[in-house]
Amino acid sequence: MYSGIESVLISAEQLQSRIKELGRQISADYADKNWLLVGILRGAAIFLADLAREITVPVQLDFLVVTRYGTHDQPGEVKIIKDLDSSVKNRDLLLVEDVIDNGNTLHFLVETLKLKNPRSIKICSLFDKPERRTAPVKADYLGFPLPDRFVVGFGLDYKQKFRNLPYLATLNPGSCTYEKEK
Ligand code: IMP
Ligand code: MG
Repeated sequence: MYSGIESVLISAEQLQSRIKELGRQISADYADKNWLLVGILRGAAIFLADLAREITVPVQLDFLVVTRYGTHDQPGEVKIIKDLDSSVKNRDLLLVEDVIDNGNTLHFLVETLKLKNPRSIKICSLFDKPERRTAPVKADYLGFPLPDRFVVGFGLDYKQKFRNLPYLATLNPGSCTYEKEK
């Protein structure tokens, strides 16, 4: 076990089997659409790579890089550091996110992308912490709801570490400021 990890919350097998189901559902819903699968980096990189391989209909990938200043509990403004390369007009966008927390990141992205006149915008998030929501955002496709705990692994980081873990885990309270602040 990595140093700092407290316990495994969702195993690699559970994650892979849920991602398979999401891929099946999305393939059925987006067959015949002119659509774009949009990964929100860096967190969604691992999920997007696995999800894309479970999609069985033609799909194009693109990426947005966003950053959020501030701390976990006092997030500042969201900024797009790298915009989409593809044209968006009249296309169906499916935004892929690692976790929806307070919802500000996705709320900002949806409102910003709407200005480019896509045909539709939907959200696929691997994890969701509904108790922490402050912005009006809902996942159209969701992997797993989570309790209000700080978690790492499968794309999610603590100070840029742990993204490569193949499972979702909690951190030892002593090694994470989020748990100390609560
Ligand atoms: P929000 O919905 O605007 O609060 O932002 C969601 C983003 O916060 C995610 O894409 C993650 O990068 C980050 N985040 C939220 N909760 C966690 C967590 O438990 N661990 C690691 N990153 C998190
Ligand atoms: Mg993220």
